[in-house]
Amino acid sequence: MGSSLEYKVEPAFSHIPAADWAGLKSRLEAARDETLADVDLLTSGGAIPKTKQPLDSGFIMLPANLLDEQEAKGESSLLGQMKLAATNMKDSVDRFVVLGIGGSYMGMRALFEALCHPYHNELPRAERGDVPRLYFSGNNIDNDVTSGLLEVLTSASDYSQLANRWGMTVISKSGGTLETAVAFRLFREALEKCYGADSKEATNLVVPVTGETGKLRDLSNATGYPAIFPIPDGVGGRFSVFTAVGLFPAAVMGIDIDALLQGAADLTERFRTAPIGENPVLDYTGVCHLLEKNKGLTTRILSTWGGRLEAFGLWYDQLLAESIGKEEKGALPLTVVNTRDLHSRGQQHQEGVRDKLITNVIVETPSTSPLVVPKVAADRDQDQLNRLDGKALPELLDAAIKGTNKAYLEVERPTADLVFPKLDAYTLGQALQMFMLATVVEGRLIGINPYGQPGVEAYKQNMGEILYGK
Ligand code: PA5
Repeated sequence: MGSSLEYKVEPAFSHIPAADWAGLKSRLEAARDETLADVDLLTSGGAIPKTKQPLDSGFIMLPANLLDEQEAKGESSLLGQMKLAATNMKDSVDRFVVLGIGGSYMGMRALFEALCHPYHNELPRAERGDVPRLYFSGNNIDNDVTSGLLEVLTSASDYSQLANRWGMTVISKSGGTLETAVAFRLFREALEKCYGADSKEATNLVVPVTGETGKLRDLSNATGYPAIFPIPDGVGGRFSVFTAVGLFPAAVMGIDIDALLQGAADLTERFRTAPIGENPVLDYTGVCHLLEKNKGLTTRILSTWGGRLEAFGLWYDQLLAESIGKEEKGALPLTVVNTRDLHSRGQQHQEGVRDKLITNVIVETPSTSPLVVPKVAADRDQDQLNRLDGKALPELLDAAIKGTNKAYLEVERPTADLVFPKLDAYTLGQALQMFMLATVVEGRLIGINPYGQPGVEAYKQNMGEILYGK
């Protein structure tokens, strides 16, 4: 269907003795087998052993299953219903708000920043592909930022005009997350003020995405929102980008969700069948694991080149940190954006503590025509850029990547490359699925349950006690 993501282990691999790699192979394969066996365990309907709970392996076959269901049932499939609701939303509003936090927010932000126009919200609607502007909220409790967005949304006088109309999706698997729930109340009240409490818009322009049970599900059923999408049991928050959590808002924004899912499904197949050495999930996990265990590289830098993959990196930071940061184990993930951060973190990565593995994330071909650095008359060449001889920005970025990797190589700082042939829905679908699978395989490899996030409960409980006094 499209081009494949490639993980290039050199030169990081030269830091790994052959015996270490050979010794890891059977354990890596066992971790893959366990990851895949967990899919059957979840769907078998049998009891899940205590040591495996929670078990959220439902994300693994989800992309392929959704596409198969769509093939069989067309418009009545879940994807068909999501696309219909997305079309209704996009045709009805010019501003679309996504309320959610953590796994219920970061995947969509990654999709938006990577796949939509970098200045999407600034463009006139016709140049935005006839889709609304996008805003995120409910991912913090910041008074000023929340007020600012409400002000933008509610300042119009005529809500019959498409340019002034707005709607939202509220996303929470548990349905009880305070940040999102409070935002939903505030934005519901604002919506009712704009359209009238009994208006059709007060329900039609809200699409809840939530688990089968919980406070948000109860509220949604009681209110009678016409479209409510499920987050299935067995798919955890940070593994839910290929449920309605990511797919519904992505469809509203005109992102090709079939291509995303196809990328993820193809990557899963590669994970299932390709041998070590040709398997990006196993190769990436093996390199990270051995360099952490044997060389003390406990900081994993995801070094994204260019500006569109920062949110993808932040999504991965959350995925790795919440999944593996348990029982006093787990590497520290850190996303950087280069060349920007060469001017803020480059010094430390070149000469600081030797605890870092750098994975470059490189897009080979830009989606737009190369911007050539203009040549000027010799008497205006004080900046001496005529030396560039009409080179274009992709060539400069390539030189920066090569120059930085060479500098790291010279001081024996390990790097590896994750290469996107181009940045589109198909390759991003592969990358998202690759990192979700790699995170689970790593967990199984080191005996940590990658699913669940028990540690996050502590702050929630304390906050509840402070607020409600119990
Ligand atoms: O990965 C996770 O499960 C978390 O990051 C959740 O996504 C986050 O806490 C939000 O939870 P919820 O969707 O229940 O509101």
